[in-house]
Amino acid sequence: MTTLRVRPVAQALLEAVAALEQQVSVTPWSVELFRDEWRLGSWMRAVVDEQGRLAGYVVARRQFDEWHLLKLGVAPAFRRQGLGRRLVAGVLRKARREQARSVLLEVRAANHVARMLYEAMGFEILAMRRGYYRGRQGLEDALVMVCRLAESLHLDKPGELSEADRLR
Ligand SMILES: CC(C)(COP(=O)(O)OP(=O)(O)OC[C@H]1O[C@@H](n2cnc3c(N)ncnc32)[C@H](O)[C@@H]1OP(=O)(O)O)[C@@H](O)C(=O)NCCC(=O)NCCS
Repeated sequence: MTTLRVRPVAQALLEAVAALEQQVSVTPWSVELFRDEWRLGSWMRAVVDEQGRLAGYVVARRQFDEWHLLKLGVAPAFRRQGLGRRLVAGVLRKARREQARSVLLEVRAANHVARMLYEAMGFEILAMRRGYYRGRQGLEDALVMVCRLAESLHLDKPGELSEADRLR
């Protein structure tokens, strides 16, 4: 079985992250945007396999006493193995360690898979932004979701994370 590891995104991995983003996101960031975010010191984590191939990534940033989960993607070949959950759990743990009150994100209302993941992790809908995204089908609504950290009990499924991941 392939071992998958979560690690900080090194500068050299940014192009691969942007390439995967092009593949999985309806509203992809450019590599320049990822570079800007990286220079800002945002929290970026990648899941890589033993050959160094990128399986997934997450980008989050602190804003005052909240964290914002900005990007999340898992390569199609690696889906339904708990990687999305693992990456979101990492953001929640980091935000909790930094004493944030909540984690916010925006998701296309039509993205039912991502919504199910976020709901399973303790996020709830805070607001709807009509016509917020310019997607392939024209303008699409966005949902703003929040995970209130003091209340969330769903950070990890037991046994999903290695000790090394927990320490990150
Ligand atoms: C959303 C995404 C990150 C999920 O990644 P993943 O690694 O497959 O997710 P996980 O295996 O951790 O699944 C976690 C939970 O999400 C839900 N889920 C994930 N894929 C699902 C699917 N195809 N159908 C229904 N529910 C699904 C389930 O609740 C699942 O829990 P379960 O496996 O215990 O039932 C991935 O599908 C993806 O990259 N999508 C395209 C990019 C995207 O939408 N990003 C989010 C933008 S806000």
